[in-house]
Amino acid sequence: MKLILLGPPGAGKGTQAEILSKKLGVPTISTGNILRNAVKNGTKLGLEAKTYMDTGGLVPDGVIMGVIKERLSEADCRGGYILDGIPRTLVQAEAFEDEGIAIDTALLITISDEEIEERMTGRRVCKGCSATYHIKTNPPKTHNTCDSCGHSLEMRKDDEPGTVRNRLQVYHDLTEPLVEHYKDRHKLLVVNNQPSIEATTAVLYQTLGI
Ligand code: AP5
Repeated sequence: MKLILLGPPGAGKGTQAEILSKKLGVPTISTGNILRNAVKNGTKLGLEAKTYMDTGGLVPDGVIMGVIKERLSEADCRGGYILDGIPRTLVQAEAFEDEGIAIDTALLITISDEEIEERMTGRRVCKGCSATYHIKTNPPKTHNTCDSCGHSLEMRKDDEPGTVRNRLQVYHDLTEPLVEHYKDRHKLLVVNNQPSIEATTAVLYQTLGI
């Protein structure tokens, strides 16, 4: 399956992508994680991306398209992939079509702007492997410690309230038009956010028929 996960910041795209990845046996490609790793490692891409990410803006389309084309050419993507965070502008979606990058389904996870704040203030991310937790809804077994690799957890820099507001505005202005784009192409499915990760996964499986 070649799937795009759409939805505002904090909708649960990354969380559900990891679960779906295991279920379907295909890789998740998260452009946010790729960019955050590049920032952490101080690469040329990271240095360029950091300014945009810190303020909640988007990295230029040309830059991110180069990154995704390279990643999708790797062997593990031949049997399908789950895309978390891309395409997120009409320019990127059109570039996918021009490049012949196949998409079977765009799955939108909806969530209200009010709920997003709670998601962001409680999110914690592993400094080692980037696994995502939430202090209330998805806590680690040991306080502030990753279940998978044992590294400590931290808040994402772009989860500060001012930056979240900007990210949300960017989502409404630049990413939301993709909903109509994929609806017009009969590729859109919608899952309304549920109060727990497990409940959202159940609805998502039902919607995808898996
Ligand atoms: P990116 O990392 O893609 O951020 P985002 O789209 O804003 O999404 P988030 O990662 O914030 O949220 P999510 O939906 O994955 O939620 P999560 O599962 O973590 O991008 C970051 C930046 O990189 C961008 O701002 C941009 O600068 C740049 N970038 C990336 N891609 C780009 C592109 N294509 N073009 C240009 N720039 C790009 O869940 C959130 C929290 O809620 C967690 O704590 C989780 O445990 C909890 N939770 C999840 N689901 C539930 C539930 N159902 N019930 C209760 N709690 C839940």
